[in-house]
Amino acid sequence: MEHITELLRQYRQGHGLPAEFYTSKEVFRYDIEQVFKKTWIYVGVVSEFKKKGEFRVVQVDNNSIILVRGEQDEVRAFHNSCRHRGAQICVTDKGRVPNLVCPYHQWTYNLNGDLIYAGRMGENFSCKGNGLKPVAIASVAGLLFINLADDPCYADMDKMKADLEPYVRFYQLDKLKVVKEIDLIEKANWKLVVENNRECYHCGANHPELLNSWPPYGAGFGWPDDPREAAAVARQIDEAYAKKRPQWDRLGMTHEPLDLTADRWYRAMMMILEKGALSQTVNGELACRKLLPGFSEPDNSDLSMWTHFNSWHHFLCDHVVTTMAIPLSEDRTLVRTRWLVHEDAQEGTDYDLETLIHVWVQTNDQDKWLAEISQAGIRSDAYRPGPYSEETEGLVMNFIDWYVKQLQSGR
Ligand code: FES
Ligand SMILES: [Fe+2]
Repeated sequence: MEHITELLRQYRQGHGLPAEFYTSKEVFRYDIEQVFKKTWIYVGVVSEFKKKGEFRVVQVDNNSIILVRGEQDEVRAFHNSCRHRGAQICVTDKGRVPNLVCPYHQWTYNLNGDLIYAGRMGENFSCKGNGLKPVAIASVAGLLFINLADDPCYADMDKMKADLEPYVRFYQLDKLKVVKEIDLIEKANWKLVVENNRECYHCGANHPELLNSWPPYGAGFGWPDDPREAAAVARQIDEAYAKKRPQWDRLGMTHEPLDLTADRWYRAMMMILEKGALSQTVNGELACRKLLPGFSEPDNSDLSMWTHFNSWHHFLCDHVVTTMAIPLSEDRTLVRTRWLVHEDAQEGTDYDLETLIHVWVQTNDQDKWLAEISQAGIRSDAYRPGPYSEETEGLVMNFIDWYVKQLQSGR
């Protein structure tokens, strides 16, 4: 504890963190208690739970969590630990069940988590009061967040819902389906994974596929260097937005930038794709001919959205890419990406899966490599926290400040 206080004292705003924040087991344990178990964590999307009883299991540190579409059609979350002798109830990652039955002695819980059967427990035993322990869950227009705290901060969630739902609702996630999910285990501390996600300073040199459609201003690119050219680009951007806004208004899309403030832990930015692209594909063409339900014609927009600390999303006119990061240890992080299309879209007719996923498969692999070389370099005796670029890494600074505040709040 004292050691962490001392490390926090060494942190200089506008700079990276001291090495131990990325390498030490002790700090990681503190991260678990102060960050992962106290904040709202993105864990999935409603499109995965089409039918009653469909479930997924997500592991957050020592806690295995069941997400399941319940009796009243809402997605619920429970600790995956039987109230009898603690066994895990769902032993596969996903499936569909009428009830949740513990494999050990068949205690049976309904989809609301109530215990409805426990054999041979004697006359004095009552099922009542022995339901599964619920986990706080919230849906932001279909994006699912859980909170493992004993007293979750619902005010945080209510504010985020009010701010973000107008953007997300347009995409009708309940009418989409997940057609691909890919897990990467990155050999890097979770903060390096997130830091890398919060800037596009690295994009020019590292993401050739993404750059076919990515706007240079997307996340503070920092180019072109010539200020006269920068002014010309800024003018073009203003003109492009002036033209787009009435179209978005007509479609009923929420598009005003929702940028960061000191107490905001999420961001939504509507972007216009570059170079005539209509989607995030290598050639800029649509990835899926069946557009998302809100669109009657192709639109070259990308709603780029993220939340501290563990999610980022791209909403295009023809598909959605949504990513969550789950910390596994001080130097390993799970990055799970899902691709969604209209629930009626047919593979082979409306979309080719490889084309659909290509840009973000490549981009994620490139980002994995960047996070891993950062981790390896930070282990060096020579590492000293360097300065962030005000021009291109403002969002990284915001993330690190948010993180430091989370740690300080527990002291
Ligand atoms: S541990 Fe679950 S029924 Fe016994
Ligand atoms: Fe990247």
